Amino acid sequence: MSNLKEILINKNICKSVWFMRQAGRYLPEFREIRLQNQNFINLCLNSELSSKITLQPINRFNLDSAIIFSDILMVPYALNQKVEFLKNHGPRLENFNLDKFLKNNDLDFIKKLKPVYKAIEITRKKLNKEKSLISFIGAPWTLLVYMIGVKQNKNEIDLEIINKKKNEIDLILEKLINYLCLHIENQVRAGADVVQIFDSWAGLIPQEDLNNFCYSPNSKIVEFCRKKEIPVICFPRGIKKNYKDFNNLVKPDGINIDYNIDPKWAKENLKDTVIQGGLNPKILLLPDEEIYSNTKKYLDAFKGLPYVFNLGHGMLPETNPDKVNKLIKFYREYQ
Ligand code: CP3
Repeated sequence: MSNLKEILINKNICKSVWFMRQAGRYLPEFREIRLQNQNFINLCLNSELSSKITLQPINRFNLDSAIIFSDILMVPYALNQKVEFLKNHGPRLENFNLDKFLKNNDLDFIKKLKPVYKAIEITRKKLNKEKSLISFIGAPWTLLVYMIGVKQNKNEIDLEIINKKKNEIDLILEKLINYLCLHIENQVRAGADVVQIFDSWAGLIPQEDLNNFCYSPNSKIVEFCRKKEIPVICFPRGIKKNYKDFNNLVKPDGINIDYNIDPKWAKENLKDTVIQGGLNPKILLLPDEEIYSNTKKYLDAFKGLPYVFNLGHGMLPETNPDKVNKLIKFYREYQ
C-alpha cells in the first residue's frame, strides 16, 4: 500500500509530504510547457502532457505523493458549460442554463473526461509504488459558485441570488453529487489511490446554510467513498471553528486545515481523522529561518499524531522552487 493511503486507512504515524498546486506556475519546467499550450483546458485534456506535469514536482523534490494535473473546472467543462482561463483573470464560464445542464448524461460525461483517466493510468505506471497518486474533485458548492457565477469579488457572494434560487440550487447540487461520485470512481479505477475534495469557497456560506451547502454534500460524497473503500481527504476552506462540526458530521479519513486554523486548536478539536496541511503558502516567500520556525509550529503541534505535511492553500506562483527544496529537507530532518 502506498504511504498516504496507509496513513489515511491505518492512521499510521509516518512521514509524508506533498503540496497543493505542487505542479504549477512556480516551476520553470511547467511554465515552459504552458507557454507552448495557451489553452488550459486543452492542456488538461492532453494525457501525456498532464502526466508529465504531474511528475515534474516528484522528479524535482521526491515528494511522497503526486496529485494529478487537472482542474476542478473540468467537471463543468464535461457538463457542457464552456470554461475559459483568461490570462491574469482566472476562469470564466459561459452563463449557466438549467435546461442544458439537466440534459447531460453519465456516458457523455465520462467520455469527455476520458483523457483525465488516461493521464492517471499513464502516471500510475510511471510512479514508484510507494508513492500515492491523488485524484481530486471540487465540492458541489464550490463548483456551483463558478457555474452559476455568484461570486462578486474575492470574499463575497450574491446572497440574494442564492436565497431566490434555493430550489434550483438544491437540484443542481444533487445532480453534481452524482456526477462527482462518477468522476471519483473513474479516477480510482484508472489508478488513483486517494481523493481530495476541494471546497475552496465553503467560507462564503452563511452559517445557517452550512449544513445544506457544505456538510451534507460533502457527507454524501464521503459516504460514497467509504462504501467503495476509497480514502478521502476533505478541505472545507475558510469555515473557521466550524471545522469541528464539519469533521464530526462528515467524518473524512483526512482533513486539510487552512492557514487560519490554529494547529493547537485543530489538535484538540479535530478527532478521529488525519490532519493535513496548514502552513500559509506566503511563508515560503520569507527568509529561511522564518520558514523553519513557522513549519515547527505545525510539526510540534502534531508530534505523535498521524499528520500529513502540506500547505494551508495552493503554492503561490511567485514561490522560489529552491525554498520548497529547503522546506522539504527541513521537514524530513526535523525530529
Ligand atoms: O494541486 C495540483 O498541483 C493539481 C492540479 C490542480 C490545479 N487546480 C491546476 C491548476 C488542482 C488540484 C486545482 C484545483 C482548483 N482549481 C481549485 C481548488 C483549490 C484552490 O485553489 O482553492 C480551484 C478553485 C480551481 C479553479 C482554478 N483553476 C482557478 C481559480 C484558476 C486560476 C487562478 C489561479 O490560481 O491560477 C485555475 C487555473 C489552474 N489550475 C492553474 C493550475 C496549475 C494555473 C493555470 C495557469 O498556468 O495559468
